[in-house]
Amino acid sequence: MKNTVSTFLDMKAKGQRIAEITAYDYTTAKLVEASGINAILVGDSLGMVMMGYKDTLPVTLEDMIHHGASVVRGVQDTMVIMDMPFMSYQQSVYDAVVNAGRLIKETGANAVKLEGGAAVTEQIKAIVDSGIIVQAHLGLTPQSVNAFGGFKVQGKGEDNARRLLEDAFKVQEAGAFSVVLECVPPKLAALISRKLTIPTIGIGAGAGCDGQVLVYQDMLNMSGDFKPKFVKHFANIGDEMIAAFKEYKNEVAEGTFPAPENSFVKSDCSDEFLEKLDAEY
Ligand code: KIV
Repeated sequence: MKNTVSTFLDMKAKGQRIAEITAYDYTTAKLVEASGINAILVGDSLGMVMMGYKDTLPVTLEDMIHHGASVVRGVQDTMVIMDMPFMSYQQSVYDAVVNAGRLIKETGANAVKLEGGAAVTEQIKAIVDSGIIVQAHLGLTPQSVNAFGGFKVQGKGEDNARRLLEDAFKVQEAGAFSVVLECVPPKLAALISRKLTIPTIGIGAGAGCDGQVLVYQDMLNMSGDFKPKFVKHFANIGDEMIAAFKEYKNEVAEGTFPAPENSFVKSDCSDEFLEKLDAEY
C-alpha cells in the first residue's frame, strides 16, 4: 500500500513508529522499497554524500531534480520527499511555491521538505495551499550551518527549548504534515512529539520521536571515519565494497576474471573459421 500523509498520521495515532531514510538514486531506491521503509528523503545531504561538498549549501534545484526523478523511478509504495535546497525558498513565498512545484512536477515525488520555523511559515502555508504536502525541519538545520557556527545540538537552554517548541507548533499550524527534529535533546524532542498532532521524525533526537530518519551511507558505514553519536552502523557495506573492489582488481590482474562461466560460450563463428582468421592476419 502506498505510504501517504494518512499513513503517517495513522501510524502516529496508533503509536507505530515511522521509518524514513535518504536515497539519491534508482538502485538504492529499489532496495529501500523492497525493505518496506515508509519514506525516502531525497535530502540535500546529497551535496555531501554524493557530490563531495563540505556542506549542503551549493546544492541546486537541478541537482535535486536529477536525483529525485531517479529515486521516483525506483519506487511504488514508498513516499518520496524532496528537500528544497538552500535559497530556493528563503527569499520569497513566490519562489518557494514555484520551486516546490518544480520539484514535484519534474520528479513525480510526493512531498517537499524545507528547513526553519517561524521564518518560513508563510512559505509552508502557501506551498500547502497550492496542494503540495510539506515536511518541516527544526533543530539543527544544516542550511544554517554558518549561522550556527558549525553542526551543533540545538534547543539547549530554556529559551531555546521554548522557541523550538513554539516553532514546532507554528509549522504544524502552517500545514506541515510532519516535522524532522535534528540534533535536539531527547527529552525536549519527546515533549514536542507528545504535544504535536503531526508526527515528529528524529535524527539525533532520541527514541521519543514518532519516527526516525538516517542518511543511508552513515547507517551502512560507507562514510569513512564520519560517525556522529546518533548514527548506528546496521551493516559494514563500506568495508565490503572495498574488499570486493580489491578482489576484482586482483582477479583482473591475475587473469582469473572473467572465468569461462562468466563468458558467452556460444560464438556465431565456428572454431575452424576462427583458426582461419588467426592464420590470415
Ligand atoms: O538532507 C538530509 O539528508 C536531511 C536529513 C539529515 C534529515 O535533511
